[in-house]
Amino acid sequence: MYLSKRLMDGGQLVIGVDSINEYYDTKLKKDRLAYLKKYDDFSFYQVDLADRDGFNQIFEYNKIDVVINLAAQAGVRYSIENPHAYVDSNLVGFVNVLEACRHYDVKHLIYASSSSVYGANQKMPFSTTDEVNHPVSLYAATKKSNELMAHTYSHLYNIPTTGLRFFTVYGPMGRPDMAYYSFTNKIVNGEPIQIFNNGDMMRDFTYIDDIVDGIVRLLDQPPQGNPDFDRERPVASESYAPYKVYNIGNNQPVKLMDFIETLEKHLGMEAEKEYLPMQPGDVEATYADIDELKRDTGFAPTTTIDEGLGKFVAWYKDYYNVK
Ligand SMILES: NC(=O)c1ccc[n+]([C@@H]2O[C@H](COP(=O)([O-])OP(=O)(O)OC[C@H]3O[C@@H](n4cnc5c(N)ncnc54)[C@H](O)[C@@H]3O)[C@@H](O)[C@H]2O)c1
Repeated sequence: MYLSKRLMDGGQLVIGVDSINEYYDTKLKKDRLAYLKKYDDFSFYQVDLADRDGFNQIFEYNKIDVVINLAAQAGVRYSIENPHAYVDSNLVGFVNVLEACRHYDVKHLIYASSSSVYGANQKMPFSTTDEVNHPVSLYAATKKSNELMAHTYSHLYNIPTTGLRFFTVYGPMGRPDMAYYSFTNKIVNGEPIQIFNNGDMMRDFTYIDDIVDGIVRLLDQPPQGNPDFDRERPVASESYAPYKVYNIGNNQPVKLMDFIETLEKHLGMEAEKEYLPMQPGDVEATYADIDELKRDTGFAPTTTIDEGLGKFVAWYKDYYNVK
């Protein structure tokens, strides 16, 4: 929603595509949509990316210059129980996105990858030049697959593709299944919050406005392909083909317990805490090396966790009418 808003405020026409599936409360999805529909420059298709014909129709009827593919089946834990949802949306759906870019002459494809591709890696901060061959969830495997699939389309059809590995994005109107949001629900309702790995976790939380800023900076900067690319010592984040992968994070990991304390402060309530072991598919820490995105676009995240959670809580209290 915030990306579409920012683009239209800047004078761009936006076509939204979303299946409005029931992975989480559709009211939130519909409220985001209602907000965007106030803009004359916004049109919307309720289409599943996996519906090849339905998706292609959108390109038949509209001239589309840039595709920003954020639609996906997200969530690490859900992928343990529902693997097929990830194959349908993130693999079948993504091939349909790539094919549409190929056949309808799209000038730049930007797509969401994820910090989860770093999987079992322990070298910090995570760099796009690190190998990412040890995913620990099917979700992560589908996101890494997206990067591989994108490279083949950049190579075969010269389509400029930019993959962005998002690091724990949070903010108003965000995803209710994520810890910051579900903890807030539970604290407000007086229910205990579940703290995995006994709280020994770290996340590079990235505020939505900083993510939007990074994407906007990349819009008019499709990758060119590096003519000096060394195939004998290939760098993972780039190619001779017009292909690029960046981390987009805050570059300031926060300890889970500090994050909970900040959330409690803004809510003015204390959480009842239940300590549990590590969950399958999860990783202990994430920390983004963002030097490449800084170098290429001037990206510089500015929102601290204190400021960002403050904004989230203010929105949450207003949206759910919490006193
Ligand atoms: N939020 C994060 O911390 C985070 C971290 C890493 C990567 N990502 C990636 O960023 C992107 C956006 O994430 P988000 O947190 O805004 O998630 P989100 O679930 O709020 O948004 C994704 C949207 O895609 C839609 N969708 C799902 N499958 C679809 C399909 N097959 N066809 C059409 N629409 C479909 C959903 O209805 C939803 O509205 C996703 O690709 C996600 O994997 C997010």
